[in-house]
Amino acid sequence: MKRKFLSFVTFVTIIILSASCYYDNEEALYPQLSSSCDTTNVTYSGTIAPILANNCLSCHSNAMAPTAGNNIRLENYADVQSRKTAISGSINHTGSYSPMPKNGAKLKTCSITQFDIWVKNGALNN
Ligand code: HEC
Repeated sequence: MKRKFLSFVTFVTIIILSASCYYDNEEALYPQLSSSCDTTNVTYSGTIAPILANNCLSCHSNAMAPTAGNNIRLENYADVQSRKTAISGSINHTGSYSPMPKNGAKLKTCSITQFDIWVKNGALNN
């Protein structure tokens, strides 16, 4: 009888312990709610240049622009800075700007937001 009681206590203890190990992690349960988009440390070199390199320079690099990018260069800061309004319109698919990336999927919302934040912060060469 005593052994049965002991094993019952052990059983209950294990149930309680394993139940207490479970916790709801909101970010793990709802990845779409997690805000892994860094909107506070947006810089030209760390954020904007990589977005353009990954999505745009195949046509808008200095080398490719004459043949593939309508002579629009987005490789250097000065070129990007001077075209920031058109770039924003193009990646947001707003206004009369040609939607970019051309014939490609729209950029991730995070990247578009970061570009607009960079412009709002003065489009600095940082
Ligand atoms: C497959 C080649 C290609 C890619 C990739 C591409 N572009 Fe373009 N882009 C073009 C061409 C060609 C034009 C000329 C207008 C047109 O044909 O739509 C253009 C035009 C533009 C313009 C001028 C739009 C206007 O209406 O004044 C901007 C700004 C621009 N691109 C930005 C970008 C950005 C930013 C990216 C990356 C997110 C990108 N492009 C990706 C080929 C490309």
